Amino acid sequence: TTLSEFIHGLPKAELHLHIEGTLEPELLFQLAERNHIQLKYPSVEALKKAYKFSNLQEFLDLYYEGANVLIEEQDFYDLAWDYLEKCKEQNVVHTEIFFDPQTHTERGILFATVINGINRALQDARTKLGISSKLIMCFLRHLDEASAFQTLDEALDYKDLIVAVGLDSSEKGNPPAKFERVFAKAREEGFLTVAHAGEEGPASFVKDAVDLLKIIRIDHGIAAIQDEFLLAELAQKQIPLTVCPLSNLELRAVDQLENHPLKKLMDHGLLVTVNSDDPAYFGGYVNENYLASAEALGLSKADLCQLAKNSVIASLLSEPEKEHHI
Ligand code: ADE
Ligand code: ZN
Repeated sequence: TTLSEFIHGLPKAELHLHIEGTLEPELLFQLAERNHIQLKYPSVEALKKAYKFSNLQEFLDLYYEGANVLIEEQDFYDLAWDYLEKCKEQNVVHTEIFFDPQTHTERGILFATVINGINRALQDARTKLGISSKLIMCFLRHLDEASAFQTLDEALDYKDLIVAVGLDSSEKGNPPAKFERVFAKAREEGFLTVAHAGEEGPASFVKDAVDLLKIIRIDHGIAAIQDEFLLAELAQKQIPLTVCPLSNLELRAVDQLENHPLKKLMDHGLLVTVNSDDPAYFGGYVNENYLASAEALGLSKADLCQLAKNSVIASLLSEPEKEHHI
């Protein structure tokens, strides 16, 4: 079997996926038309040409602009359903999806509209595609603490649908400490916590996310490679990293995939997983991330098996559910 067939054959969990980042240009144009929204770009091709980024912020600017076409509950359903069909195609058996309510509530869309649309697609994926899922609500770290508290408040009505809270958006200038109190309240309310850390920010942000936000999993975390004491701690505690190689390449967190620390992190004994982050923007879903990493870093089939197994182990599924997938 080819490497690509081998990767396809591995049952995988995806643990780092922004639903707004799965908005393919074709659906973006369809939704713009359906909602009578005028786009800056004359065509799908013109929009695709704009997807060239030199850092996280340049990407985020386009990502938030793209999200403006999402208005009705059905739009959020369609967005999530297209991604879940992709999961089926790629043998992703379980997915843990981030959503960014503030991206929508800031422009007058109701929290309920967002979560009900996404949740209906997740339910349909369970019954029609056999794909299980969890929902993680992220706070936008470029917004203030008060906005995060207000968002947490809105989420309390949906505790049965949201398992964890996370932290995303512009990392530079927005350290974990800014959200220490919000995360404390979220934990009191029974949510698990995760956070983006060490994507563009320093290793100290990874350490602070663990110590101050009490996160059970780190999103990206690649800057940890700079700090051997932190590496030892993450290995010892088996705190998982949700690494997104093509995202890191497209956002210039690494200059080339050959220099990505993925394999080194595995060799240090960390619980590393491979994920797609914002596949509509970075040119690949989860299988393409496995394949590009394997080719650039010379990963063996045993390494790829380990990564797929890690994805289940690092998931928020119950132990019996994990056993079922391994
Ligand atoms: N929001 C969507 N994708 C993101 C990323 N890679 N980093 C931070 N925030 C994000
Ligand atoms: Zn992300």
